[in-house]
Amino acid sequence: MSNRNDASTTPIRLSDYRAPAWRVSAIELAFDLGIDTTEVTSKLHLRRDPDQQAPLRLDGEGLELLSIALDGQPLPESAWRYANQVLEVDGARDGSLLETRVRVQPAANTALEGLYLSGSREAGFLLTQCEAEGFRHITFFPDRPDVLASYTVTLRADRDRFPVLLAGGNPDGHGELGDGRHWARFVDPHPKPSYLFALVAGRLQHIERNYITGSGRKVQLVIWAEPDAIGRCGYAMDALERSMRWDEEAYGREYDLDVFHVVATHDFNMGAMENKGLNIFNAKYLLADPDSSTDDEYRAVEAVVAHEYFHNWSGNRVTCRDWFQLSLKEGLTVFREQQFSADMNSAPLKRIEDVALLRRAQFPEDAGPLAHPVRPAQYSEINNFYTATVYEKGSELVRMVAGRLGREGFRRGMDLYFSRNDGHAATLEDFLGALGDANQMDLMPYLAWYAQAGTPRVSARGHYDAAHRTYTLTLSQHTPATPSQPHKQPVPIPVKLALFDRDGRMLPLHLAGDNATASGDSERVVVLDRTEQAFVFQHVHAAPVPSLLRGFSAPVILECDYAPGELALLLRHDVDGFNRWEAGQQLAARAFDNLRDGKTTDSLDAWCDALAALFGDSTLDDALLADLLTPPGEIELAERERVVDPSHVHVLRQQLQEQLALRIGREALQQRYDALLAHTTLELDAISQGRRRLKRRVLELIARIDPWTAHTLATLQYDNAPSMTDRLAALSVLVRGNAPQARAALLHFRERYADNPLAMDKWFSVQTQLPGETVVERVLALESDGAFTLKNPNRVNALFGSWARSNPDGFHRADGSGYQLLAQRLQQLDAINPQVAARLATAFNGWQRLEPGRHAAARAAIDTLASRPGLSRNLREIVQGMQHG
Ligand code: TRP
Ligand code: ZN
Repeated sequence: MSNRNDASTTPIRLSDYRAPAWRVSAIELAFDLGIDTTEVTSKLHLRRDPDQQAPLRLDGEGLELLSIALDGQPLPESAWRYANQVLEVDGARDGSLLETRVRVQPAANTALEGLYLSGSREAGFLLTQCEAEGFRHITFFPDRPDVLASYTVTLRADRDRFPVLLAGGNPDGHGELGDGRHWARFVDPHPKPSYLFALVAGRLQHIERNYITGSGRKVQLVIWAEPDAIGRCGYAMDALERSMRWDEEAYGREYDLDVFHVVATHDFNMGAMENKGLNIFNAKYLLADPDSSTDDEYRAVEAVVAHEYFHNWSGNRVTCRDWFQLSLKEGLTVFREQQFSADMNSAPLKRIEDVALLRRAQFPEDAGPLAHPVRPAQYSEINNFYTATVYEKGSELVRMVAGRLGREGFRRGMDLYFSRNDGHAATLEDFLGALGDANQMDLMPYLAWYAQAGTPRVSARGHYDAAHRTYTLTLSQHTPATPSQPHKQPVPIPVKLALFDRDGRMLPLHLAGDNATASGDSERVVVLDRTEQAFVFQHVHAAPVPSLLRGFSAPVILECDYAPGELALLLRHDVDGFNRWEAGQQLAARAFDNLRDGKTTDSLDAWCDALAALFGDSTLDDALLADLLTPPGEIELAERERVVDPSHVHVLRQQLQEQLALRIGREALQQRYDALLAHTTLELDAISQGRRRLKRRVLELIARIDPWTAHTLATLQYDNAPSMTDRLAALSVLVRGNAPQARAALLHFRERYADNPLAMDKWFSVQTQLPGETVVERVLALESDGAFTLKNPNRVNALFGSWARSNPDGFHRADGSGYQLLAQRLQQLDAINPQVAARLATAFNGWQRLEPGRHAAARAAIDTLASRPGLSRNLREIVQGMQHG
């Protein structure tokens, strides 16, 4: 395997960046496609930087070089060297043409990077994945994002085996070759970096639709999938059209080719890929139908379709200078995708979902051994930096800046950013510079956020002075040390806030020293940009309850010593939907502390009482109620502990829900469940989705206090479910409750969905949620199921990922068997797919804070894995990071 036993362990550093000595203005590629071997001819039109003397050096990994010629002359062996994944060529000049012919082996490529086969040899199809550095597995090239070239691509293949031939760009002819083969050519008029190259070839079916852009250009939208899946592409097509329209309206951005192709594959390392004109999707994020997809999956399809489409501007037209700038395209595109989803669905619910994800995935990363800045300073393997920090925290940074500029200011800034950098490879400085310049504002202080790892902690203290009727809010910030960054600087933290009186009404704000125009508003933003700052509000007639960080205005951990009654007041009355939920989360976390410490039940009582009251409030949205009734997850709760015992966290969280269910009452829960069940439909609108969400939550609460009833209801729900959402919810309650009915339901599910890989993934994943004591044995049993394979990333994540990430109690078994099992499988998986292995290995995150027994067991498993010879650069970097921080 080409990227195993890699000699280069020296890290790549941002500070070492140099502009390329050689560029490629145009590349002509020709593929003779075959499943076992494919031959690739490339002609590079070379440009030399007159100020640099470096010899021509091209990246190439695992390539069998068949021929090489410079300016039409075959090169003697003495004129080139191919070693350590670099081809060095003598004699090239500015304007030279280098022609190489190489052979690659798609079917043997299990790493799913470069050109590979998806599916079986008989029925599968060929495709490419080039981001971040996959193009070098296809041909010799300066494989870095600041080398932008025009692409002309010719595909040649057997017509029967590969009736469909696709590449990025506009179609530029096709025809027969005789001997049963045919050809097709594509020309991309927009210069692009190599990571955006893509081709697809095989027996695919399609659906298509014409789209007219705002300025009247006609674009053909085509979605491709294997025959058994083509019927499930309609929802993605609608989502694509909505995304295109939204980007025109919200950002004035239109699509810029005559065709836009989208392809679904079951064999993919990540979610999807924004290749220019030829997006490729993990089928999980493209296919959707009510019988096999849940509501959450529908929303994920809409979001990922939008995300990849939005990359056409934020990523493709304006790309990244180097991979350290990855968040320039990913953070920005996640932000755009979140805005879009908020517009298409419910904005507060979207915000709750995004912040919950940030806390579950990014905060632990930022607090663990792999913590890194949104713009890392160095990496060994770039694929390890497609992280929650670069994506999700990166999006929060864009949101903060956008919030500072306001709607119109941000749009003005984005227009300037796109026009200044169109067709170029840009940096985060270019981004903040354009946003600032368009608004006569200096945004460079926000660069500190990009350079510093760790989640800032903000403490808030309020003091009410009755004599002067002033309320002084003192805010301070502190970012804990992270590996290799012991000392942190203060960062600018926008805190959006409001003050509530004791009746739950918002007060007009008069900030001392404020200008008259903003004075009197009931909500405003203050920026904490030093270690500590005090803000004085005047004309405050009684001690207020502050609502801070509204809408989660900055990605920080807020510490504020609210009394339980104050949080309960915000939970009842806050008009900021996010902060209302947030007050409930804070209260639930304190209720958790009550249960742990056993000293008082003040927060527990306040939380249960407030939610029991809201449960009876018929004006409340079902989906929001479902979220309010969900306490922070086990991972988030564990983040608050100094020493973690995952089983104890699990038990306490169960008790928390039990207390809540008891307070609401069995009768009230069952009545609500029955009412929701009576309204069961197949519709996808927000109200129907909200009903299903609440129905599931209520059933889970019933299961906490009356398992027998819950299992009876769940069995009925399973048998009669019209949608996957209801079916899977019921199955999950049966499995998690170890119900006797679970067995039959699982057998039925397996039969029914045997031919549907995405549904089968759910079958694997739901069983990893068994209670802690039994799950390791179940994982072992599931591994020997005929449907399991280490070769398919979705299947690996459905089994090992769900187990190790979403069932902390079951993964962190006290006897250490979970750690041993994961470490062994990681080693096997690494030989097949290093990217997927490295990502899965991050499940060990947090091991340092485990209680002593588990700590020792986890360390032993990690050390053993680290000592294995021949680990990929990918896995090695993660495992060594786990060891040493
Ligand atoms: N750029 C892709 C996105 O939209 C991420 C991605 C897809 C990726 N496939 C990959 C990154 C393979 C690394 C390797 O987010
Ligand atoms: Zn992306």
